[in-house]
Amino acid sequence: MAAKWLLHLTMVVMLVALVNGDESVKPFVKIVKGKKLCDQGWECKGWSIYCCNDTISDFFQAYQFENLFSKRNSPVAHAVGFWDYRSFITAAALYEPLGFGTAGGKLMGMKEVAAFLGIVGSKTSCGYGVATGGPLSWGLCYNKELSPSKIYCDDYYKLIYPCTPGVSYHGRGALPIYWNYNYGETGEALHVDLLDHPEYIEDNATLAFQAAIWRWMTPRKKLLPSAHDAFVGSWKPTKNDTLAKRVVGFGTAMNVLYGDQVCGKYGNTELMNNMISHYLYYLDLMGVGREEAGAHEVLSCEEQEVFSVPTSLTSSSLRLKVKFCFIIIVHITAQLIVF
Ligand SMILES: *[C@@H]1O[C@H](CO)[C@@H](O)[C@H](O)[C@H]1NC(C)=O
Ligand SMILES: *[C@@H]1O[C@H](CO)[C@@H](O)[C@H](O)[C@H]1NC(C)=O
Ligand SMILES: *[C@@H]1O[C@H](CO)[C@@H](O)[C@H](O)[C@H]1NC(C)=O
Repeated sequence: MAAKWLLHLTMVVMLVALVNGDESVKPFVKIVKGKKLCDQGWECKGWSIYCCNDTISDFFQAYQFENLFSKRNSPVAHAVGFWDYRSFITAAALYEPLGFGTAGGKLMGMKEVAAFLGIVGSKTSCGYGVATGGPLSWGLCYNKELSPSKIYCDDYYKLIYPCTPGVSYHGRGALPIYWNYNYGETGEALHVDLLDHPEYIEDNATLAFQAAIWRWMTPRKKLLPSAHDAFVGSWKPTKNDTLAKRVVGFGTAMNVLYGDQVCGKYGNTELMNNMISHYLYYLDLMGVGREEAGAHEVLSCEEQEVFSVPTSLTSSSLRLKVKFCFIIIVHITAQLIVF
């Protein structure tokens, strides 16, 4: 029985390999419990439903990366020679089996790459109104904050993410990371000691993209969506979300990542509009076309309420945890004294 099944499986895999007998690497396929799973080598590895679809390098090639970030290596840019296509694809490959750029088919994949890179472009731009090539062609101009005014060490976290003496936690990366607790949390997830060595992010473009894609793929808090979920629609808005005007799309992805720094600002929309402009510009350059971006209420988060645990409050929830620990310790100590 088992042998028969194995034979069958081998035949399926061989058949797929035969049918796709052209030069490009095509998925190996197997069916497990009625689900089709695939593996596409290094770029989409590990028997995932998402690996049955086009991978990012199928629809986003080196010349397109060059188009999107055409000014990043111009002499006045601030990270000349740092960012490249290969680093992006290498980092993206780690998350493609989880759906990054591979969920919902090719069009959705292209839109997601444009959306993610749109926020990256906006956060790393040195473009301004009169910059040559237009303000939107200056994404990936920076890989770090140039003149930090402080070292971004928050002592509230000294028990969980203690600051290393002499180390500065200023902004670095593709979706720049600030503060010891953010370096600590990211480093923990990526198994890299960013608390002692935040400079790894400005030394290694693959790691910088990896940290950014991890942030895009990861909810800030249990029960909340990731920016990815909010964008591709694996997140389903609840009644509360609908009341708060949070719908599936780019607006809610910005909301997840930046909360009240960018969203719910009624009139004070410069940061949000800059992200939207980059996203639309990239959609055009990638050949998708900005008309695919959807209606204003999908794109914008101007009128959205932020999620109940916005960016700036993640800290407070941790703060509470620390305080709670202290209370328990005090309580136990008090009891010991009583006895
Ligand atoms: C793969 O792509 C198809 C459309 O081409 C889409 O319907 C499907 O949802 C995608 N698979 C996954 C797991 O997202
Ligand atoms: C850069 O980061 C990537 C991804 O984390 C890692 O695999 C690679 O070894 C790093 N390169 C160097 C030179 O440290
Ligand atoms: C919906 O919002 C109300 C009022 O803000 C809150 O009490 C309730 O817990 C929320 N429900 C969910 C499922 O988040």
